[in-house]
Amino acid sequence: MSTSRTIRKVVFPAAGLGTRILPATTVVPKELLPILDKPIIQYGVEEALASGLNEIILVTSPGKTMLEDHFDRHPELEEILERRGKSALLDGLREVSRQMELSTVFQDEPLGLGHAVLASRELVDDEPFAVILSDDVIDADPPALRQMLAVFDDVAGPVLLVERVPRDAVHRYGIIDGASLGSDVYRVNDLVEKPSPENAPSDLAIIGRYLLTPDIYPALEETGKDAGDEIQLTDGLRRLLQTRPIHAVVLDGIRQDAGNKLGYLRAILYFARKHPDLADHLPELLRSLE
Ligand code: UTP
Repeated sequence: MSTSRTIRKVVFPAAGLGTRILPATTVVPKELLPILDKPIIQYGVEEALASGLNEIILVTSPGKTMLEDHFDRHPELEEILERRGKSALLDGLREVSRQMELSTVFQDEPLGLGHAVLASRELVDDEPFAVILSDDVIDADPPALRQMLAVFDDVAGPVLLVERVPRDAVHRYGIIDGASLGSDVYRVNDLVEKPSPENAPSDLAIIGRYLLTPDIYPALEETGKDAGDEIQLTDGLRRLLQTRPIHAVVLDGIRQDAGNKLGYLRAILYFARKHPDLADHLPELLRSLE
């Protein structure tokens, strides 16, 4: 078992249908929708790079090459920017692709997050890895993944990222039943997918970051499909919990759920408020809508 090895790889599942933002997501993957001047997924990739992880594995659906294309080099555009002396734009464009090593794998059918993670098995191989669901856009310092890596170094096993959510929102998340180990780290006793408020063991909701060990793959395979014909990552984690400890750490930062219309709008406004060219204009812009 290779749990103590350093994590280098980050899997980005991006083969979902994005039905909550249709029709925008018919052709363009949800992960490529922009939050201001950057697509959603780039916030996640920059978080991975800032956390010291540069091997990026995209899980996309067959035929959707746009995500890969986004991170590719664009020689013609670069040449035009160079000729026009737009060096800041050019550097911005090159920076991320220069730092990352990208590989892609297809999930043949959108059969759930667990199924998407299973698709990464050959590329990840026998080493621990991270998973980023990029529609959870996180603003944190240190970056969320780095906060989790610090815990992984201690526990040498799977680490989930959790956030306290209001009781009336627990039914939208996987919720942990955990025992506090102090300093916002919990040992997970159980995981419950989308509980009712009465049945929720806590208000600690699993959000879109995971540090996993390769034994999650056989666990997911044994888990099989649920009633909705999908393989759920939470179910795989529950199975894994029977054989090894799993820990969770509470996020120190701010998360935007950009995977639905209202959350997507909120994410845009959140980052506009932090953007040096836009922040000052935002109050007046909002007033002018009334
Ligand atoms: P979501 O639960 O947000 O589902 O997936 P979705 O299909 O993207 O969107 P809705 O619910 O239809 O609006 C969480 C993450 O898991 C990926 C998604 O791309 C997203 O990053 N995913 C989900 C897959 O890669 N494959 C799947 O089969 C399901």
